[in-house]
Amino acid sequence: IGTSLVFVGETDSTNTLAYRLAEDGAVEGTVVIADAQNRGRGRLGRQWESPAGVNLYCSIILRPPIMPLHAPQLTFLSAVAVAEAIERSAGLAPVIKWPNDVLVNGFKVAGMLNEMSAETERIDFLVLGIGVNINMQRDQFPTDLRHPASSLAIEAGHEVSRLSFARALLESLDVHYSQYRSEGYAPLRQAWLGRSAVMGRRVRVSGNQGDMTGTVEGIDEIGALLLRTAHGTLERVLAGDVTIEG
Ligand code: BTN
Repeated sequence: IGTSLVFVGETDSTNTLAYRLAEDGAVEGTVVIADAQNRGRGRLGRQWESPAGVNLYCSIILRPPIMPLHAPQLTFLSAVAVAEAIERSAGLAPVIKWPNDVLVNGFKVAGMLNEMSAETERIDFLVLGIGVNINMQRDQFPTDLRHPASSLAIEAGHEVSRLSFARALLESLDVHYSQYRSEGYAPLRQAWLGRSAVMGRRVRVSGNQGDMTGTVEGIDEIGALLLRTAHGTLERVLAGDVTIEG
């Protein structure tokens, strides 16, 4: 990962740019980094605040030989790598909230957005989009955010080098992706569970099928959250916003 690197000053969204490069045949492991995005995209059609000079906005092109159904497994790759990079470059203690938010002291500091091009049986390519608030200051955050957000600098109390962070991130991605290619999903799932803020906790998930509460027992082969409800049944949740209750 990172053998081929594309840096741009400003783009609409690094995911859009990477998607176009992948369609034109860019090799697996190509990394696109922008200093600023003017149409940074978040999950569920939300927008991602992307000012210049302070954060990391990057997208990675992967071409894993897996079925589209298994693509969500690679969301966990980004979350695990981001958490490791935060620990190594800023000395903070991040946790992961399903599916892919990375929190420090309860605040969201990073987000992932994966996009893919696929036919029914096989993936053509995946774009892993990663946004990390590194040196963003309090007054640069919009006031109407869904999840309370912060940056590494705010939480660490000092600036964090974007270069050291990017290097640590690409190294972690490389290690875990190589392991994924050689050993499959199991080690990645273990790494994710080891850093999960929700494992064993009582949570409420609000999604388009309404609210559901239960205790988290893990994640399955397709990235769904496994919830034990009060009635004792095991439910699989595919999408939604998680609130930790106990
Ligand atoms: C979320 O938590 O809603 C996901 C946010 C993902 C943001 C990153 S920044 C780099 C890449 N380009 C985008 O437009 N989005 C992702």
